[in-house]
Amino acid sequence: MNVRPLTVSPSLCRASLIRTLLFLILVVGGTTAGGTTAAVSQASQSEPRCADWGESSERAVSVLEGEAGWLSCPLFFHPSVYNYTSTQSAGHNLFWYRLLEGHELEQPITYSVRLSRDRERLWLQPAAADDTGLYICMLRNKSSCSKIAMRLKVLRPDEVVRGTDCEPPVAVAPTQEVIPFQQGKTLHCPDLQEAGKMVDENTTITWYHVPRSNTRCEKAPFWTNDRQLKGLSLEFHIMYESFQGLYFCTVHYQRRGQTLNFSRSINVSAVYPSHLPKLPSILTPSDHHVFTVKQDTEARLVCTGLFPYLESWWEIWWTVDGKTLEKLADRRFSNINRQVKYDFGDRTEESVLVIQDFQPEDLHREFNCSVKNEKGFETRRAQLQEEVSLPSVELGCGLGVTLVLMLLLFVVYHVFWLELLLLYRSWFGTDERHTDDKEYDVYISYARSGEEEQFVLSTLRSVLENELGYSVCIFDRDSLPGGTITDETLSFVARSRRLLVVISPDYASQGSQALLELKAGIDGMARGGHLRVILVQYKPVRRQGWVRELRRARVALALVRWQGDKSQELTSRFWKRLRVELPVRRVSGGEG
Ligand SMILES: *[C@@H]1O[C@H](CO)[C@@H](O)[C@H](O)[C@H]1NC(C)=O
Ligand SMILES: *[C@@H]1O[C@H](CO)[C@@H](O)[C@H](O)[C@H]1NC(C)=O
Ligand SMILES: *[C@@H]1O[C@H](CO)[C@@H](O)[C@H](O)[C@H]1NC(C)=O
Ligand SMILES: *[C@@H]1O[C@H](CO)[C@@H](O)[C@H](O)[C@H]1NC(C)=O
Ligand SMILES: *[C@@H]1O[C@H](CO)[C@@H](O)[C@H](O)[C@H]1NC(C)=O
Ligand SMILES: *[C@@H]1O[C@H](CO)[C@@H](O)[C@H](O)[C@H]1NC(C)=O
Repeated sequence: MNVRPLTVSPSLCRASLIRTLLFLILVVGGTTAGGTTAAVSQASQSEPRCADWGESSERAVSVLEGEAGWLSCPLFFHPSVYNYTSTQSAGHNLFWYRLLEGHELEQPITYSVRLSRDRERLWLQPAAADDTGLYICMLRNKSSCSKIAMRLKVLRPDEVVRGTDCEPPVAVAPTQEVIPFQQGKTLHCPDLQEAGKMVDENTTITWYHVPRSNTRCEKAPFWTNDRQLKGLSLEFHIMYESFQGLYFCTVHYQRRGQTLNFSRSINVSAVYPSHLPKLPSILTPSDHHVFTVKQDTEARLVCTGLFPYLESWWEIWWTVDGKTLEKLADRRFSNINRQVKYDFGDRTEESVLVIQDFQPEDLHREFNCSVKNEKGFETRRAQLQEEVSLPSVELGCGLGVTLVLMLLLFVVYHVFWLELLLLYRSWFGTDERHTDDKEYDVYISYARSGEEEQFVLSTLRSVLENELGYSVCIFDRDSLPGGTITDETLSFVARSRRLLVVISPDYASQGSQALLELKAGIDGMARGGHLRVILVQYKPVRRQGWVRELRRARVALALVRWQGDKSQELTSRFWKRLRVELPVRRVSGGEG
């Protein structure tokens, strides 16, 4: 048959099963593949146009340089669709092409002892570095044609990542095998079956084991009888944890007097034996667990499930009111799944249900976590409770505010205590005039000499009488001439509510009028005769100069100091202090 080079579509796409099925329909239907999405190469009237299935991504092949390798035509990967035997009987032929790097056109393969064809396979015995490239297999009879491309990579041994130096380089990823503890299994070297008729009685296999725990290669036969070589296979009688790890097998065979080999690896893992219970279970939340949620914040419900080792599927999921999250399709609900633990095949899986902006009505929803495998099913409802907010932040704030307020009040009190006191008295104070029968509010006692006299007569008296409305008694003014000074003084003092003593250096020298007044006042106070003594200091006075009575009295009495010009104003501290000490008198505009 005349085989022409074919063009390969630059947009090589995946050969999926669906496309293969479509292809089958086309082929069985006897129609040509024109009009499909696949690129179709030009053909003469005598030859069918060829359906191009692009590059197979299913199996890019890696082969080690110097080892035996093969390419299987991907058209036959789904034997139910394409079966080599049946295509042969339908008159199909299989052709191999190769697209060289930098070339537009495929070249037909020139077969040799090294590069040979066997059924749907192209053999490289052994592979050479420059075999790397794109290969195309084309299946064709007189009325139909299809082709597919695949990539081959020939690796140098030093390009292969190896765990230890003792293990042979392997171009193919390890296959995975699990063996239950206490149970047995026979390991076959992967791809030995595929190698088919190349394997004969003279074929041998070397086995190596690199345990997980160390990096030393053990070469079969192993020193215990629990693992034995049996023919080309390795038989495990009883599985132990130490038997886990990577197993390497190198297949050596003879072909036309030449010794060829290829190596594969198997990752062997131990799992819990099959006789153990295999029902899935929910570890958390437990029956009594209560999730605490807070309104308007994100809630996270964590569910963990234990899935004992089974070769089949398993599943963990959340439902909200019996609906899966997909069915619910509410953006507020999402979940995050991850593996928590993997213990000899028993897996602990976690699913976190994330609820954004938790709402009060969510409390009444039914959140169920479910686990399932082929042996069983379990579901558990998550108990929710709203967080009893002992809001530490609010509490702290409240406390802070209270403290600040207290501090403020403290400061205010200290600065304005006089004003506050006056205000209080003006509201709640009792007017002493209603409760006693005294004539004067204030009796002013002073030394009859110097500046103090001037101060008493011009300032103190006039303000008290004219501005503040007190009735003031001044002996020298109010006494009647001719009376007994002593009797009259005592009588005046007794008829006054306050005795205002203006202290001066020479106040109350022995035997003076002032001393009499002071004694009378202190006596009156001591007897509880509704009299109080107030000391007013006009100018600083050294205490040593005070009479004994005054020195004693000072301890118990209020002292109001005149502070010169500062005290002139009626709103000054002096007058306020004084008013606090004097009887309550409501005067308009006097407060403040
Ligand atoms: C291929 O077809 C032949 C006969 O049509 C059948 O005997 C064989 O089992 C099939 N092979 C596969 C792998 O389906
Ligand atoms: C080519 O193969 C198809 C099925 O794959 C078959 O229907 C057709 O008859 C074959 N054509 C010839 C000429 O044998
Ligand atoms: C196996 O090897 C022996 C000795 O080298 C040889 O005589 C025999 O023919 C070989 N068998 C096969 C099937 O190649
Ligand atoms: C496989 O064969 C090649 C070429 O003969 C040789 O270099 C290589 O060491 C062999 N590999 C093993 C693991 O025996
Ligand atoms: C072998 O399998 C174990 C368990 O599945 C895994 O942790 C490890 O990474 C695997 N090793 C290789 C080389 O694939
Ligand atoms: C949720 O779990 C409880 C058991 O905790 C169960 O009774 C209820 O039927 C479950 N609801 C759904 C919808 O599966």
